[in-house]
Amino acid sequence: PPRILSGMQPTSDSLHLGNYLGALVNWVKLQDEYDAYYPVVDLHALTVQTEPAVLRNRTRLTAAQFVAGGVDPERSAVFCQSHVPEHAELAWIMNCLTSFGEANRMTQFKDKTAKGQSATVGLFTYPMLMAADILLYDTAVVPVGEDQRQHLEITRDLAERFNTRFGETLVVPEPYIVKGSAKIMDLQDPTSKMSKTGSSPKGLIDLMQDPARIAKNIRSAVTDTEAEIRYDVENKAGVSNLLVIHSTLSGTSVEDLETSFAGRGYGDLKKEVADVVVAAIEPFQARMGQLLDDPAELDRILASGAERARTVAQSTMARVRESVGLLPAG
Ligand code: TYM
Repeated sequence: PPRILSGMQPTSDSLHLGNYLGALVNWVKLQDEYDAYYPVVDLHALTVQTEPAVLRNRTRLTAAQFVAGGVDPERSAVFCQSHVPEHAELAWIMNCLTSFGEANRMTQFKDKTAKGQSATVGLFTYPMLMAADILLYDTAVVPVGEDQRQHLEITRDLAERFNTRFGETLVVPEPYIVKGSAKIMDLQDPTSKMSKTGSSPKGLIDLMQDPARIAKNIRSAVTDTEAEIRYDVENKAGVSNLLVIHSTLSGTSVEDLETSFAGRGYGDLKKEVADVVVAAIEPFQARMGQLLDDPAELDRILASGAERARTVAQSTMARVRESVGLLPAG
């Protein structure tokens, strides 16, 4: 089957609802049809200054959350990016194909440094490491949230440029970005995306949070002064966000939700959304509990995932080295 790859940074202890609905839900769905690779991108996380012990812990927590969210480690490779050194090696080659001006147009670098993240060369070249993650696996499809669209575009450009310059070597990947759920909004500020760093505690839903707190945050979500439950992102960002959250988790279409909530109030909507979110989060947290009770099992998952990933990565890198003219090691 064709390959799929997507990663998450271990930059906090808990994934949030945006990571879950924008990415993880689709990882789980697509693993049925694709040969799937899901790295915890720990090298990317080094762009944020973190205590080593904290990074180690978050890396394990992030991997465990992939599995608790429904990634099947028997079918899909769950691994640490740093356990497959070819990621960093191909990133160097990508750096050498990227013009400074092109890298300078990446909006995430500007956003992150504007918010106070330190402007290291690593943060600047972050998209080229991400391109390497994807291109190493001959990835056909990359399921991500809307905020990764520009990184997918540069990845495609780099693959095409490589192939033009050195001959057909790399697969040009397609983004898989689902309208609506690809951008889950902050509950308190529904015109900004929910994010680990940008959202206030009341605006964010962490998957590892106490379900009672989650329900409370949903009940106090910002809406608008009308009373109609209707999907309209321009004029009703808060209500639209709640409808998308409900729909993605319940499988009921937004139109059907609009019909079933016709004539009802925002209180009803919030209560039902809270129920749907808590119903998804409770089994997730229970599986996390089991995984954290058995660290040897998590180590085994990461080791076998890395082994599978290395096989593919090594063969792609051999092709890449040959294409660009690096001598074989003998
Ligand atoms: P990261 O770790 O910031 O986020 C992980 C995934 O969650 C999605 N996401 C959201 N989706 C919907 N609504 C939101 N509010 C929201 N916030 C985050 C992100 O789009 C992402 O899919 N650069 C990547 C990590 C990465 C990667 C890769 C992804 C590194 N290499 C290769 C795909 C393929 C990042 O920082 O994601």
